[in-house]
Amino acid sequence: MNRMKRHFHASTLLLLALGVLLTGGGWPAASFSQAGKKSAPSVKAPAPAAPKNAATTKAAYLGYDEAKPILEALRDALPAALQRASAAELPSLWPQWVAARDAEIRSRLLQGDEDSVINFLLFGMTFTRRPRITLDALAQAGKEVNNSANNALLDAIKLRADDLIQGILSPGTNERLLFARRLAVSKGFDLQAATARTQLQEYLLGTLSRVLNEQSSYARILEAARLLGDPSQEFVERSKLYSARGLSSDTSLLPNFALEKTLEAITAQGLLTAGSVRRVAIVGPGLDFTDKQDGYDFYPQQTIQPFAVIDTLLRLGLAKANDLQLTTLDLSPRINDHLTRSRQRALAGQPYIVQLPRDEKGLWKEDAIAYWNRFGDRIGTSATPVAVPPGAIGLKVRAVAIRPEIVRIITPQDLNIVLQRLNRPAGEGFDLIIATNILVYYEVFEQSLALKNVEAMLRPGGFLLSNNALLELPTTNVHSLNYTTVVYSDKPNDGDHIVWYQRDGK
Ligand SMILES: C[S@@+](CC[C@H](N)C(=O)[O-])C[C@H]1O[C@@H](n2cnc3c(N)ncnc32)[C@H](O)[C@@H]1O
Repeated sequence: MNRMKRHFHASTLLLLALGVLLTGGGWPAASFSQAGKKSAPSVKAPAPAAPKNAATTKAAYLGYDEAKPILEALRDALPAALQRASAAELPSLWPQWVAARDAEIRSRLLQGDEDSVINFLLFGMTFTRRPRITLDALAQAGKEVNNSANNALLDAIKLRADDLIQGILSPGTNERLLFARRLAVSKGFDLQAATARTQLQEYLLGTLSRVLNEQSSYARILEAARLLGDPSQEFVERSKLYSARGLSSDTSLLPNFALEKTLEAITAQGLLTAGSVRRVAIVGPGLDFTDKQDGYDFYPQQTIQPFAVIDTLLRLGLAKANDLQLTTLDLSPRINDHLTRSRQRALAGQPYIVQLPRDEKGLWKEDAIAYWNRFGDRIGTSATPVAVPPGAIGLKVRAVAIRPEIVRIITPQDLNIVLQRLNRPAGEGFDLIIATNILVYYEVFEQSLALKNVEAMLRPGGFLLSNNALLELPTTNVHSLNYTTVVYSDKPNDGDHIVWYQRDGK
């Protein structure tokens, strides 16, 4: 096909996607609606010392016998390959299906990486001096639904795309540009070719158009769910919103504020007591690249949640630093490598620096600001933050240098929670498993498999905290007890419901 024609095609599609997005309600928050506040979000369906290094425990696939009750209960919701099989065929088909599905799930990481590059294109400040295309800007343009506003937005996006392409061609030491460059090469682009710029622009605009279309479809699903008028059902619909989306690594501070409030509430009810948390797992710790909410790129990529959880457990007296192990369970090699390298640096005595941006225009609640101020006081010391770029008006940044002995508490483990678990010796189950903004990437059947894997890894009486409503089948031995709602800011729908799931038994 003629290149110019294809280029025009990408722009046209993008313009259409902008129109759809701008009239479709913007970038939805996946996990929260204040409408859910009043109603319980759960869904009811028809020792010896722990190993020094949990990474030495290999992840094992979920066996057929354990999956069987889920396969039977959710017969109508199974993927086609499993639905087609007879009851007699399922036991032998299961291991093949699991191996193939594991590869498919892991391949969703590539599309998540593309989504991150799109956030970088819209929000990044390190490769361009042009203004960010913020969510507010998108929403503002959406209020004036006319072609000239959309055309102006498209022109602004194209100029940023040109700058990003220049950065991809000459990335220097900018780690996000190097990441975007590796992604482009892995997609087969020849960066030396004379046509590289045109092809990259077409690719970026085409991918942006896909992302915008997805966003508007999420907005439509959420609106349909809201119209059901049942907050619990709405929460259920939100809880699988990203099941067809690429797996993103993005992470931010405030879900950890919600976790702190939740652990406080659980402790206040006497369900967790001082020093009772010794083994913790975080499913999908994430890596802050350029997230879809505020998307800053002027500090090194970082993980936040493992440190935040340790900080909270020490603050609440639930754990002791010298008797705590935290295992991260993630299928992303990028995240696992990041954590492995951080651990190695900590073993050599180096701290881990976390940067904590806060937009003063973000209307954060006072208690969220107080959390931002106290973050890290149990695990490190305040450090000098990286300089805020001149374009980021009203942005404040704190930095915390986390002590190496705290970083060493964390052991990364490659694991796909949908299909795998760590077979831990009896008496060494996790006291607490955290899974925020990860199960939303899966449908009910795969969420149920994940819950079975979580159940196998929790000690009896141990807790799973998740901001998703999960199906509780009659054979599930993990049940929701309660939930905590935390509002982050005065913006609409900005907060989380964290559900307290507990494994049966003492
Ligand atoms: C959007 S991030 C959320 C990060 C963090 N938990 C938070 O709430 O900010 C999703 C994380 O889950 C991981 N993830 C997605 N699917 C997974 C799976 N099946 N098993 C393990 N990790 C998974 C991703 O690699 C990423 O680290």
